Amino acid sequence: MKKVKVGVIGTGFIGPIHVESLRRQGNIEVLALAEVNKETAESKADALGIPRAYGNYKDMLKDDDIVAVHNCTPNNLHYPINCDILNAGKHCVSEKPLAMDSKQSKDLVRLAEKSGLVNVVNFNYRFNAVIQHARLMIKKGMLGEIWNARGTYVQDWLIYPTDYSWRIDPKQAGESRCFGDIGSHWCDMAQMLMDTHVTEVIAETMKVYNTRKRPRHEVEAFAGKKLKPKDYKSYQVKTEDLAVVMMRFANGATGSTTTSQISAGFKNGFTFAIDGSKCSIAWDQQRPNELWVGHRDQPNETLLKDPSLVLPEAQEFAHYPGGHPEGYDVGTRNMVQLAYKDIRRGRPRKNPLYAQFKDGHVEMAICDAVMASARNRRWTKVRY
Ligand SMILES: NC(=O)c1ccc[n+]([C@@H]2O[C@H](COP(=O)([O-])OP(=O)(O)OC[C@H]3O[C@@H](n4cnc5c(N)ncnc54)[C@H](O)[C@@H]3O)[C@@H](O)[C@H]2O)c1
Repeated sequence: MKKVKVGVIGTGFIGPIHVESLRRQGNIEVLALAEVNKETAESKADALGIPRAYGNYKDMLKDDDIVAVHNCTPNNLHYPINCDILNAGKHCVSEKPLAMDSKQSKDLVRLAEKSGLVNVVNFNYRFNAVIQHARLMIKKGMLGEIWNARGTYVQDWLIYPTDYSWRIDPKQAGESRCFGDIGSHWCDMAQMLMDTHVTEVIAETMKVYNTRKRPRHEVEAFAGKKLKPKDYKSYQVKTEDLAVVMMRFANGATGSTTTSQISAGFKNGFTFAIDGSKCSIAWDQQRPNELWVGHRDQPNETLLKDPSLVLPEAQEFAHYPGGHPEGYDVGTRNMVQLAYKDIRRGRPRKNPLYAQFKDGHVEMAICDAVMASARNRRWTKVRY
């Protein structure tokens, strides 16, 4: 089978996870990468074993061998680069959040639809096998009527005032930092599982430091812990460290989530529970192979990921036998597995399981509503 040739833009934390996920398919070749300048591009290409290195992504987009491009740059570059990828006639896999606000994301939805190209946002947590099992349980009515979704997405990597990332700068990350970065994953998960969308929110946000200190030189995400506290300079913080959000869904369910980047000890505490009239389910990203099912009148159960035990349509997302754990990376791997079936045939299928730009736009609209609600201190409709 002819290999699909791919380029990746941005190779900090998540870019190499895309590279690895692409290579695990076997029928895809990562032909090129683009970085912030030629020197970085060449050293990253050398480290990752990628043949072509571009110091300007626009030059990579002129490479006729490349069919699809992954945008793994900071948030402020998602809109302009995604536009350029689609305008170059290449399929586009974008990191989340899709854009800086819902005006930009709406534009991208229009452009993607007009182009007829495959367009993907990497809401990777959708693709753990037990998550897909949970979605199918809800779809088949095994939870009964769905009443409530609740959970957290809490981390501690910005707990100290010296912790720094481009994510704190609204010019690079957007008006919302914490909710936009990780609340978007939580809402995407709840909506995907229940096949519905958020209609209204009420939110409280909190900024624990008005002033933080940053290193004089840019650092890659999550590298802050390795730095020594020297050569820091002070800056005003504009974005939230924490957001508490209540929501209503179109299916009649209520929801609530706490998102935080300052919760000591919680490294990547993405959890949810969904309460139905027959049973509840719960999942914790840090134990990604387990789905808890709660009952009123019989002992509770834990499903341990096993391709022979998950519902049939979820089996393609479990690659190893029961008892052989699959973790964080399996999400992007499975996103790639699904998206490239469409990239191979040249166009998106109707309502794919992977998130498209229209789903990325939904997250941007929720994020805008969360920020407006926190400012105005009242329930706010999500305007899609
Ligand atoms: N889906 C997920 O689970 C997940 C996880 C982490 C990050 N992300 C998203 O991925 C994006 C990148 O995050 P990260 O943590 O990898 O950040 P990072 O800072 O570690 O990496 C960003 C990379 O982009 C490069 N870059 C910057 N400007 C560029 C340009 N003009 N051209 C080419 N490359 C450029 C940087 O040099 C760096 O290598 C963010 O939007 C983030 O929200 C998603």
